[in-house]
Amino acid sequence: MARVFITGSSDGLGRMAAQLLIEQGHRVVLHARNERRGQEALSAVPGAETVVIGDLTSIAQTRSVADQVNRLGSFDGVIHNAAVGYQEPRRIATEDDLPHVFAVNTLAPYILTALIRRPQRLIYLSSGLHQRGDASLKDLAWEHRPWQGQQAYSDTKLHNVLLAFAVARRRPDVLSNALEPGWVPTKMGGPQAPDALDAGHRTQVWLVASDDPAAMVTGEYFYHMRPRRPNPASRDLDRQEKLLDACKRFSGVDLLHGYPETK
Ligand SMILES: NC(=O)c1ccc[n+]([C@@H]2O[C@H](COP(=O)([O-])OP(=O)(O)OC[C@H]3O[C@@H](n4cnc5c(N)ncnc54)[C@H](OP(=O)(O)O)[C@@H]3O)[C@@H](O)[C@H]2O)c1
Repeated sequence: MARVFITGSSDGLGRMAAQLLIEQGHRVVLHARNERRGQEALSAVPGAETVVIGDLTSIAQTRSVADQVNRLGSFDGVIHNAAVGYQEPRRIATEDDLPHVFAVNTLAPYILTALIRRPQRLIYLSSGLHQRGDASLKDLAWEHRPWQGQQAYSDTKLHNVLLAFAVARRRPDVLSNALEPGWVPTKMGGPQAPDALDAGHRTQVWLVASDDPAAMVTGEYFYHMRPRRPNPASRDLDRQEKLLDACKRFSGVDLLHGYPETK
């Protein structure tokens, strides 16, 4: 039995993954942006241990999410699932003056990875759109480029793969993988999404909790429980390090020294 924390589990694939893990007998802690969404998440996922509250648009609240998780004790796995989509019509600035999409999709998983006491397995939700992400990693905060919502989203999904692979390399004792769930009809995917919703949450559940040797790998990219070739740029160590450096600069949090080893 595993104990798993899932970001963005008040809806969509995060909530479905939580429900499936509980059905399988695992322990799950949910996460929601505020108290109201937290109560709704707890009602929708009977059997969840509790819910952690924090809006991932804010660096301060993201740090608080990590503190709350650490106060709950240790976890076997974390699924970095929360994200916002590709349809923002302009650069929406957060309280930290970062683009909303970058703050939630890229910086929050980085901060939580650094600050949550090290679990054995880390899963990062990417997307097929990561293949179109800008591998130059220039202008991550969209201060100089004209805004393009879909490009901004695709960039962050490439960042998720770079982060998963960087963590796999930096933490050899941890299994760190990324995946794409397909284009499925959640709130983000929209009603016209063509892929099967019921297949969208299974790979992350398998990666985080199964004893299948095929799931107990690190530094891999998956689609529907099978390895898939990620954007080759995601394997580039310089790009991985460049992303970590940028996230450290934006957040003030160091991936290596964020949370002391507990083992
Ligand atoms: N759906 C697809 O077709 C698709 C395709 C490729 C990849 N993905 C990836 O799959 C993951 C899950 O997507 P989904 O389709 O399940 O999306 P979703 O239905 O929109 O759910 C997103 C979850 O993240 C939470 N969230 C968003 N912003 C937040 C914030 N600032 N603070 C805290 N929580 C926040 C949402 O909370 P609220 O419920 O309060 O909004 C919700 O629980 C994402 O990483 C996405 O990029 C999805």
